[in-house]
Amino acid sequence: MRIVTHILGKALGLGWEEFTGCSRCDAAGVMVKAMNTQTSPITVVPTQVALEGGGFQIRRAFPVAGLSYFDPILLIDEMGPVNYGPGEAIGAPDHPHRGFETVTYIIEGAMEHEDSHGHRGALRPGDVQWMTAGAGVIHSEMPAADILRDGGRVHGFQIWVNLPKAQKLATPRYQEYASTSLPIVTGPGMWARVIAGELDGRRSPIETTVPTTMLHVKLDANARLSIPIAPGSNAIVHTIDGDGRIGDTPVADHHAALIPNAPAALELTSGPNGFEALVLAGMPLNEPVARYGPFVMNTNAEIEQAFRDYQAGRFGEIARAS
Ligand code: CO
Repeated sequence: MRIVTHILGKALGLGWEEFTGCSRCDAAGVMVKAMNTQTSPITVVPTQVALEGGGFQIRRAFPVAGLSYFDPILLIDEMGPVNYGPGEAIGAPDHPHRGFETVTYIIEGAMEHEDSHGHRGALRPGDVQWMTAGAGVIHSEMPAADILRDGGRVHGFQIWVNLPKAQKLATPRYQEYASTSLPIVTGPGMWARVIAGELDGRRSPIETTVPTTMLHVKLDANARLSIPIAPGSNAIVHTIDGDGRIGDTPVADHHAALIPNAPAALELTSGPNGFEALVLAGMPLNEPVARYGPFVMNTNAEIEQAFRDYQAGRFGEIARAS
């Protein structure tokens, strides 16, 4: 499998690291599943610097060696923040996905998307794109033309959310919402953008396949925020800046806190420098995961079928004016 898929990876024209989707994973994919126990021990893991796509710098909580995914979240990449000079910005040119959803959220900079189902989008700060790859999509995610030309600062997230077995070959779907469409919740010392799900009765227009909450949260120094979590969810607090606590557990910059079977509310407290984080919660699927680079299915046979379908052109192609 290892050699065969490596050769297939070369045939697909993908770099090895991009192809495996993980520069530190074993090539066969490490399938360590976080325990979903009755209690809620919080595991804090560092985010690791890696290169993705055409070579842009990301910070990755997982997949890394020893942690392949945290059901139902398959990947969290913080893109940058990085300051590009003119002509330096890098993106992820045409590549396939099958079996899950890709989410892109931009904090600074701008990205342009196009895919083999005719969807086109341009993301600016605060905007979100939620793409259901389902049966198969080829897309490109590139810096906007003005960032490519003039340089600029790029910062954002890409997150992969798994799809249940019954939805893995669903018709691809594309949702994109500008920052103006996403609810902002404010209170004493706190600000939150509701990217998906709900906070304080304010609901995002994004329709998720698996019940998922995604919040961009900023707390002033020594502030508190209580975030309700749907029972049975696995939650993640991915720090962006500053430090704070989740309940009694301290969490610092460039770390991710993994909270299996999260409590009914996450109690966030910020330290003296404030705290900024991406907060995620999703309902675990509890299904087998077979993943290989851009494909995430339930069995290795389905992964091999994904390669065959991709190579046979069944994911379509991006229509571009010549
Ligand atoms: Co992609």
